[in-house]
Amino acid sequence: MTEPPTESSASALVVTGATGRLGGRVARRLAQRGVAQRLLVRSPERAPDLPRATAIRGGFGDHDVVVSGLRGAKTVFMVSASESADRLDQHKAFVDSVAQAGVEHLVYVSFFGAAPDATFTLARDHFHTEEHIRASGMAYTFLRDNMYAEFVPELAGEDGVIRGPAGQGRAAFVSQDDIADAATAVLTRPGDHAGAVYDLTGPESLTLDDAARIVSEVLGRSITYQPETVEEAYASRASYGAPPWQLDAWVSTYTAIAAGQLDGVSDAVPLLTGRPATPLADVVRAAKG
Ligand SMILES: NC(=O)c1ccc[n+]([C@@H]2O[C@H](COP(=O)([O-])OP(=O)(O)OC[C@H]3O[C@@H](n4cnc5c(N)ncnc54)[C@H](OP(=O)(O)O)[C@@H]3O)[C@@H](O)[C@H]2O)c1
Repeated sequence: MTEPPTESSASALVVTGATGRLGGRVARRLAQRGVAQRLLVRSPERAPDLPRATAIRGGFGDHDVVVSGLRGAKTVFMVSASESADRLDQHKAFVDSVAQAGVEHLVYVSFFGAAPDATFTLARDHFHTEEHIRASGMAYTFLRDNMYAEFVPELAGEDGVIRGPAGQGRAAFVSQDDIADAATAVLTRPGDHAGAVYDLTGPESLTLDDAARIVSEVLGRSITYQPETVEEAYASRASYGAPPWQLDAWVSTYTAIAAGQLDGVSDAVPLLTGRPATPLADVVRAAKG
């Protein structure tokens, strides 16, 4: 950069994913609190225009841009990248660049039950990203989000049927607004949360039958759940032409629920935000407008 650094381009906090739903929510909350931030985004023209925020162009794999753009930053909020075959490599490259830039603390948006043998295939990538962050020597905080409550209505096809091999397993769907509030609490006092791993969940653990009933009641149209076998799940998604890793991710979203790996309500949202987590019905109602 040839221009002298402005207050926000030298700010201590960097937020990724601000052009997206979760990162955008966090960036707006930080701005409302008067916190200066750098927004690391792939398309600055799509970055939210916020007070005391400066956009830096860069993706997770852009080593030189990330290292120079993050110089002087103390804390980075890392929203996991969109699903892709090389997402884990991008995550690891980004973590290495962040550490090289001299950042002290990385707050990472992980996934509930992240483990090397998690049924949900992408939760394994989250585990390996967490391990890479732990090995980097930076302080860390992991926000292990359950499935986004906002996505529940989108699970239904055009015929209003949610199909998947989730059996009668349960998930504790969590709202992105709750995650954003929790993340904001962490990012405004990161030192208080160094080394913490938070399971971020909603206030109730629901079967897909429960979820379908709640969405039906709020939207006033019939949404139902029809369990599939694993074979049926692969067959019903085969026509999308998705690569095998993506099909595995889609199907294992449901088999993880069947296996009980998204079950369990945590108190992290109330602890971090000072208010109860938002029930699915309220999330769907708010999105309906
Ligand atoms: N818990 C769940 O149920 C669940 C469900 C789906 C996804 N997720 C994960 O949660 C993340 C956030 O969700 P969301 O709803 O906010 O997603 P979103 O609206 O798609 O936003 C993703 C953000 O990440 C940025 N991004 C993606 N790949 C990147 C890369 N390689 N380098 C730098 N930035 C990158 C995107 O930038 P662009 O605008 O340039 O694309 C965008 O700002 C997702 O990316 C995914 O990893 C969780």
